[in-house]
Amino acid sequence: MKADIGLTEKNSQAVAEKLNRLLADEFLLSLKTRNYHWNVEGSNFMEMHKFYEGLYDELDEVIDEVAERTRSIGHYSQGRMADFLKTATLEEQPYTNDQQKQLKDLLSDHETIIKYLRKDIDLFQDKYRDAGNTDFITGLMQKHEKWAWFIRSYLK
Ligand SMILES: [Fe+2]
Repeated sequence: MKADIGLTEKNSQAVAEKLNRLLADEFLLSLKTRNYHWNVEGSNFMEMHKFYEGLYDELDEVIDEVAERTRSIGHYSQGRMADFLKTATLEEQPYTNDQQKQLKDLLSDHETIIKYLRKDIDLFQDKYRDAGNTDFITGLMQKHEKWAWFIRSYLK
């Protein structure tokens, strides 16, 4: 049954495509953070192991929220690994146990997401007239800004 919520089909479709790309990136970022949680080494192992765990726990909540926002505007959420790999814009890296490399990679991913969300906020608001998702991705950008700050604070 169609969602009769005052969004045009064209606009809600465009928003759903953006949300599905975002979902793929959040999924990839969660997995990348888990990979670093498992493989980090150093005298501060437990600190970094727990830090990464806190990050992916929060990302996992975000993943669910993004998928449910897509459903809330009447579209399907993607949910297959092959589709995530096709739509994600973030890239996976070679394995490393070097925490400076891991942190720089994660920082770059959070900053990439922040930059495209900042553009999407204007699109959602002005072009697609979707107040609900404008608000949602604005809050999400703020979360990524906080996580980027946390990660940046470990880097020299
Ligand atoms: Fe664990």
